[in-house]
Formats: sequence, structure tokens, C-alpha cells
Amino acid sequence: MTFPKTRMRRLRASEALRRMVRETRLSRDQLVMPLFVRHGGGAPEPIASMPGCARHTIESLVEEARSVAAVGVPAVILFGLPSRKDPQGSEAYDPEGIVPRAIRALKREVPGLLVWADVCLCEYTDHGHCGVVEKGEVRNDATLPLLARAATVYADAGADVVAPSDMMDGRVAAVRASLDASGHAETPIVSYAAKYASAFYGPFREAAGSAPAFGDRRGYQMDPANADEALREVALDLEEGADVVMVKPALAYLDVIRRVKDRFGVPVAAYHVSGEYAMIRAAAANGWIDGDRAALEVLTAIRRAGADIILTYFAKEIAPRLG
Ligand code: PBG
Repeated sequence: MTFPKTRMRRLRASEALRRMVRETRLSRDQLVMPLFVRHGGGAPEPIASMPGCARHTIESLVEEARSVAAVGVPAVILFGLPSRKDPQGSEAYDPEGIVPRAIRALKREVPGLLVWADVCLCEYTDHGHCGVVEKGEVRNDATLPLLARAATVYADAGADVVAPSDMMDGRVAAVRASLDASGHAETPIVSYAAKYASAFYGPFREAAGSAPAFGDRRGYQMDPANADEALREVALDLEEGADVVMVKPALAYLDVIRRVKDRFGVPVAAYHVSGEYAMIRAAAANGWIDGDRAALEVLTAIRRAGADIILTYFAKEIAPRLG
């Protein structure tokens, strides 16, 4: 008996060969960098649980966006920190709110960079929920016009993409109708279609001060146990006019990303969220893992699962290492 005819190691013998047979490529063209912006001046405020990320002023946001664009990342997604929170999340749809101001500054100062605007109320409501609350309940239908208004205000300010992340039913249709009626028929909607009620949003909620003041988000975000339901969510959002559908978080939901890609064949985004970022950073800071390698491995896995676009806090840092 000689050795088997096939030796899998032959194609692993050199980096040149490995590169030639590599099945999945992670490119900077597919990355979106999330950024936080606040009112006022001064220095950017570091976010303790997200080393390397900060709450930016408009001025430091423009600087950061320039360096994101300089390493070839095509897009940023903005999250706003309002000056005042109230029950209706009014600053979310105020044309003079922090996000419209930031959009205008970015489109003026860094014109080649795509600006995505996250559309949700939770950063703006005093109770921290993603919709309006009546009698202790997050009201779906009463929230829709506010989300639609916010999306339209962002498109008016120059946003290239709007991304509703609230998980109310029917919001994509409401946003689409409002955009179409206000001269923004060409503005794409990236819908957070399958967004799970996840423990991995912790650092984001610290950054945005958006943890719910009572209860939790399980009444509107998805149960981590469900995947068939994610396909129904995606089907509905596509019917309502979503151009790209998102799965969030990413690493714990690779199976969902794969099923969405296989079933629908549409552009799929995945959000590698704050907690996923923080875990790698924390372990690396302790010397327990090689953070650079871990980030590349995880983001490659998200691509391999079928994501076309990845939103990640590693975008700026990892882009120079990619093709
Ligand atoms: C707003 C929103 C959240 C995130 C993105 N958009 C927070 C949440 O649902 O609590 C989380 C992003 C992250 O954790 O990186 N609804």
C-alpha cells in the first residue's frame, strides 16, 4: 500500500500557492466603519469598553472619516448622541440634530466617502427603547412615522444610505414611502432585517447611553434560538423594498447569514457588533490571543458564511492589511 494519491498538504506548501487557492477574500471594499458623534467641542471621548473608538465631535469625526477614507474603506455608519433625550426621541428627526449636522459636514469635507445613517430612536429616547412607549409597551405603529421622518431628514441632509435598526414591523415600507415622496427614490435602504436580542450590544449601549431604562428588547428583537424566523423577517423586508438585508450580530449567527444568502441571493450585510469587537480587544490586551489574527479570522469567517458587506469597528485598522 503506497501513500494515498491525494495529499491535501501539496497546495498548502507556500504562501503563493495558498493565496492562489484561497476561496474567501476579505476586501476593504466590503467594510463599513461605525462612528459615534456628539454635540460640542473638545477632545473625542474614548469609549472604555471599545478601545480605539470614541464619541467624536463633528470636528474629530471629520478627521476620523478622512483617515477611514484614506485606507480605502468606502463607507461609515453614523450613530448620534443627542443633547437631550425625551420620550419621543425628537432629536432623531430634528434637521438640526447631531446626525444631520454630521452628515452635512462629512459630505462637504470628505465627499468621496459614503455616509450611512442608522435609523432608530433608542439613542434619543429617555427610556432607551427603539420606539415610542405607551402604558409600558413599545408601540409599533405609532413609531413608524417617526422612523420614516428620521430617515427622510437624513436623506435630506445628504445620507447615501439609510439603515433602520429598530425592528418594528413595517418600518421598511414606511421608510421607503417617505423617501419616495420626498425626492429620495434613489436612496437605498439597508435594513437590519434579522436583528437578535443579544448580549453583545453591551459596549454600544455604554457608548450611546441607550440601555433600556426598564425591561429589555426581547419584545421586538429576535430570539437567538430562531433561524427560520430570520428568513421570514428577511422576506418581509425585501417585499417592503429593502435593498440590502442585514444579520446582526455576526459571529454567533453565521448559519443565519448563510441561509439568508442561499435562500434570497441578495446583498447581505453582517454587523460585527460592539461586544464581538470588545471580546477580541480585551483578550488581546491580556496577551491571551493575537488580536490582529483573531480579527482577520473572524471577519473572514463572516465573509465565508455569505456576507457581502461587514460593519465592523475593526474596519479602519484592518483595511491596510487587506487587498
Ligand atoms: C440601535 C442600534 C444598536 C446597535 C446598532 N444599532 C443597539 C441596540 O439595539 O441596542 C448595536 C451595535 C453594536 O453593538 O455594535 N438600535
